[in-house]
Amino acid sequence: MSGSTIKFRVTAGGNLKGQIRVTGDKSISHRSIMLGSLADGVTTIEGFLEGEDNLATLNAFRMLGVEINGPVKGRVEIHGVGIDGLQAPADVIDLGNSGTSMRLLTGLFAAQQFNTTLTGDKSLVTRPMRRVTDPLTKMGASFTTSESDTPPIEIHGSQRMCGIDYDMPVASAQVKSSLLLAGLYANGQTCITEPAPTRDHTERMLKGFGYSVQVAGNKICLLGGGRLTATNIDVPGDISSATFFIVGACIAEGSELTIKHVGINPTRMGVINILRLMGADITVDNEIDVGGEPVADIHIKYAKLHGIDIPESQVPLAIDEFPAIFIAAACAEGTTVLTGAKELRVKESDRIQAMADGLTILGINAEATEDGIIIGGGHIGRGTVNSHGDHRIAMSFAMAGLCADNEIEILDCENVNTSFPGFADLAKQVGLKLTVQNI
Ligand code: S3P
Repeated sequence: MSGSTIKFRVTAGGNLKGQIRVTGDKSISHRSIMLGSLADGVTTIEGFLEGEDNLATLNAFRMLGVEINGPVKGRVEIHGVGIDGLQAPADVIDLGNSGTSMRLLTGLFAAQQFNTTLTGDKSLVTRPMRRVTDPLTKMGASFTTSESDTPPIEIHGSQRMCGIDYDMPVASAQVKSSLLLAGLYANGQTCITEPAPTRDHTERMLKGFGYSVQVAGNKICLLGGGRLTATNIDVPGDISSATFFIVGACIAEGSELTIKHVGINPTRMGVINILRLMGADITVDNEIDVGGEPVADIHIKYAKLHGIDIPESQVPLAIDEFPAIFIAAACAEGTTVLTGAKELRVKESDRIQAMADGLTILGINAEATEDGIIIGGGHIGRGTVNSHGDHRIAMSFAMAGLCADNEIEILDCENVNTSFPGFADLAKQVGLKLTVQNI
């Protein structure tokens, strides 16, 4: 979001060794601010991710009159205003790069008694919004978006919201969560049927705040008109951030790495499932329950990987991890084929094209398809790749240096701070030969 740009330079080779913790889960951190703000009483959060995306959510609630102390070393204290206590913001709310804030807050704010305008950075204003505005409009909400149905979005408050029974066409936790948040205020029951399981942190956390949510198979329902009770939240390490290190250790000979206290919610485990199918040596132990979310330690040892056809059932469970998985595929023996992953084209960047372009520059056979990619494992060579301001593309190519035979430069890496502040220092600490340059 700043004016300067950051470049990563990675010297080829090395491996990852040691024991680390990664920063807090981004999805859970967003939801903890949202539900804490709406609850009755004081909610405390430990392990909150102090990344730009989560700070954008935190700032939005401050603009709506919620008193929030922190974050200080991952600790946040929220003085909840109660389900009807949010107040009209004095200004447009800028959500930076954060798609999750944009989609979830659109649902929540659509049900308020005041108007709100949400905007964001040059990536966020290209992201599709009809997936949330269509069903929310059916619930009674009213919006003005750009002609292309992207942000900025004006949310017209003071609407009477009614529950719906919605068959979600895309497997999206953001859409599901947006409707559940609107459903808190709706007359009657809101039910969402998912085409495939997606991350269920909203459902779990609502229950943690004492709100009743019914889950039967792929159908999630809640009744509007209830209240939330403040609670204490301990945010586990983010498996999406751990992924860069998991992949790095899988591809770099001699690696042996432990990542402590990572969230292993089954709806987020696709990356582990896929890498294991490719031959990875990953073990998960010390599993505990932390506030309704499973948490464990992950151990990774280098093992030779082979290409696979990625099962489509794993796609929503690994949706944010594909840039890193593509690096594993580039270092594997044989061909990896991904299908059924069109959603990757509408993330912080077009992740299929951005990864295909970058891998091609580095000498790998990578063919973008309409809904996926075909990657021939090979030798990663020298090159300069563009992350297109996408945090996950930047961190994935940084790890590629571990199995490259020459230096890699990655441009436009400032948005790594949206999800993983401290990534570069942590990566260097365990063995990545990374230099960060401000240009
Ligand atoms: C998220 C859901 C996913 C994911 C995003 C975070 C969430 O998006 O890509 O980074 O916190 O709900 P979709 O549900 O739209 O796939």
